Amino acid sequence: MKKTIATLLMAALPVFGFAAGGPSLDKVDIDLTDKAAMQDGLKTFANYCLGCHGMKFQRYERVATDLGISEEDMMKNIVFTGAKIGDHMRTPMTDAQAKQWFGVVPPDLTLVARVRGADWLYTYLRTFYADPTRPLGANNVVFPNVGMPNVLVALQGNQVIDCKQVPIVENGKKVFDPLTGAAVTEESCDQLVVQKGTGSMSESEFDETVKNLVTFLEYSANPVKLKSQRIGTYVLLFLVVFFVFAYLLKREYWRDVK
Ligand code: HEC
Repeated sequence: MKKTIATLLMAALPVFGFAAGGPSLDKVDIDLTDKAAMQDGLKTFANYCLGCHGMKFQRYERVATDLGISEEDMMKNIVFTGAKIGDHMRTPMTDAQAKQWFGVVPPDLTLVARVRGADWLYTYLRTFYADPTRPLGANNVVFPNVGMPNVLVALQGNQVIDCKQVPIVENGKKVFDPLTGAAVTEESCDQLVVQKGTGSMSESEFDETVKNLVTFLEYSANPVKLKSQRIGTYVLLFLVVFFVFAYLLKREYWRDVK
């Protein structure tokens, strides 16, 4: 048995190795009971994302109900596209326009949190940086050569890759130039810095805004998650109670047999 488990673990190892590859993701704790966070996320989504991305499986009305927003507030503050309260959240941009402007059609975001995961989204939305070699002037750490412009730049500020000279280290020791005696350095470009005064939010405010946006995306991808968690708890409670009765019954039956 032990051998089988060991073999299975070994077989699974390359999978773990693969999952660990690529740029590391920043972790985010999502709280799907935090309605204020989801409302803030919805506001950001309507203002900054809905122009290009739809949520075609999601109706305004359902979102308003789930997030505790009145129909009036929803129509006044969130619905800019001329849609009605019962309509699906569609982007006004047509696919043809999207192809012409961006070369790709921005994907629907209803289920994106299930496909990408919260950590990926949280990292993605915070790691756009200026890259003059790209057609739209922006690139992204976790989505190299992305076709989406940096839409949150006014909030976050202009983020750039900072390069600096770092000493080359081999076998735990710095490498020195035999002629000059100076430490040999190389250019390292893996730091993102926001240029001071270019964004309307501080770093922590921006992180919070993105976290709330990801909370909204996570809710949207699984609007019944809260409900299923609650049902799960009831099922477990029922099993515990049922076990007690089953045990008592068993004892009753076996009393005369023994
Ligand atoms: C100006 C149009 C535009 C706006 C506004 C915009 N996006 Fe995008 N987005 C795109 C395009 C185009 C792509 C496809 C990129 C590609 O495939 O290279 C994309 C891709 C994405 C992806 C990757 C999806 C995937 O799994 O491949 C996510 C996530 C995303 N956008 C989220 C957002 C969020 C959240 C907002 C609002 C803060 C937003 N986008 C605003 C145009 C836009």
